[in-house]
This record gives sequence, structure tokens and C-alpha cells, in this order.
Amino acid sequence: MGADDWLADTRTSYDTVAESYAGFVRDALTRMPDLRAGLALFADLVGGDGPVVDVGCGPGHVTAHLRGLGVDAFGIDLSPAMIDVARREHPGIRFEVGDMTDLDLPDASAAGLLAFWSLIHVPDGEVPAVFDGFRRVLRPGAPVLVGFHVGDVSRLKTQGYGGHPMRVHVHRRRPDRVADWLRDAGFTVQTQLLLDLDQEVPGAIVFARRPA
Ligand SMILES: C[S@@+](CC[C@H](N)C(=O)[O-])C[C@H]1O[C@@H](n2cnc3c(N)ncnc32)[C@H](O)[C@@H]1O
Repeated sequence: MGADDWLADTRTSYDTVAESYAGFVRDALTRMPDLRAGLALFADLVGGDGPVVDVGCGPGHVTAHLRGLGVDAFGIDLSPAMIDVARREHPGIRFEVGDMTDLDLPDASAAGLLAFWSLIHVPDGEVPAVFDGFRRVLRPGAPVLVGFHVGDVSRLKTQGYGGHPMRVHVHRRRPDRVADWLRDAGFTVQTQLLLDLDQEVPGAIVFARRPA
């Protein structure tokens, strides 16, 4: 699979499910206190500085939640249809089409960055370059949050969110592995939260910082 194949497949897949995905996650944070706690910690680490970029923001509910916590957040996503939904559902918040493998943001311009269950589609071989890009756009001292499914397997998802056709690889990862990738990219790893430990697919949130 070439680099462009997974990007094109992921974009097309999320264009297809953008409306239904938004319906699935619209109220998700109200049912998930652990995720809210992770986002509250991130908001605290950002400390009122801005702007903060939500990379792979989908329909923008996490971006909007962060803004409710006082974070000057905006979102970018690979899928133009997702960005249309995000703009419609959260007017007044900045959302732009963008690719985390080629971030179109100036060096040291962001006061924080999160990738909330969006790195799950990035192949292992591309993660180091993606984390290099995260470090490049972050200011010295700024925090990064990475949320993902925990495990060792990758699978090809061929439908989702109401039976719509998709073609996305979903990569589960061990938190230590993600932490090592972050260290290799020059981050200082701070904290990890493990979620849903007895569920079939647990989650993890790793917090790190670009050194000051
Ligand atoms: C499972 S959804 C997560 C959306 C949102 N962060 C959430 O927590 O609900 C994955 C999102 O990542 C986006 N995505 C995947 N690869 C991306 C890339 N290379 N650059 C930017 N966004 C990407 C997809 O378009 C999709 O909206």
C-alpha cells in the first residue's frame, strides 16, 4: 500500500460517513467522563495560551468541547465532508481541511496540539514523520495529547457508522510504543491515561510536551 493510497482511502471513507459519524459522536463526551477528564487535563496543561490545533477533528465536537473549557482551539481534518459538518455544527469555530502528514502550519505556531483517535489510521512507518511535524508546529513547552485504541493488531474496516462503505486501516497500539515514538521525535512524555481496561478495545491517552 502506498502512502497516497491510505490517505485517499481514509479521505473517501470519512467523506462517506461524515454525516452518520457526527450523529454517532455528537453526545459522546456527555457519556464519557474519562475522556472529559483527559480533555480537562489537556486544557489545564495548555494554560490559556493559544491557538491549539485539533488534528483529525472529525465533526468538531472535541474542538467545541475544548473551547467550552476556555481553550482557543481550531480543527483540521483530511475529509472535506467532515469539515463541512464541523463548520455547520459549530459556526464561529475555525475548521480547515488539512493533512497531519503534511501540516500546513508555521513552525512554533501552536500552543498545543491533540490527535484524538485520528492517528489510528496512520501506518506505523509514517508515525515518526507525523510526530516530527507535531513538534515542528508546537511552541517550546507546548503540550501534545494523543488518544488511540490499545492493542497489537491492525484491521481493515470496510463499513461503519450505519453500514456505510469504508476502507480504512485501524491501528491499535501499545501506549509504551506511542510514548517511545514521541520521545524519538523530541518530546518529553508526561502522563498516560488508560481507559476501558476490561472492554474489548481499551483506549489510551498519552500526554507529552515539546521541551522548553
Ligand atoms: C475516528 S475519527 C476521529 C474524529 C474525532 N477526533 C473524534 O474524536 O471523534 C478519525 C478522523 O481522523 C481524520 N484523519 C485521518 N487521517 C488524517 C490525516 N492524515 N490528517 C488529518 N485528519 C485525518 C479522519 O478524516 C477522521 O475525521
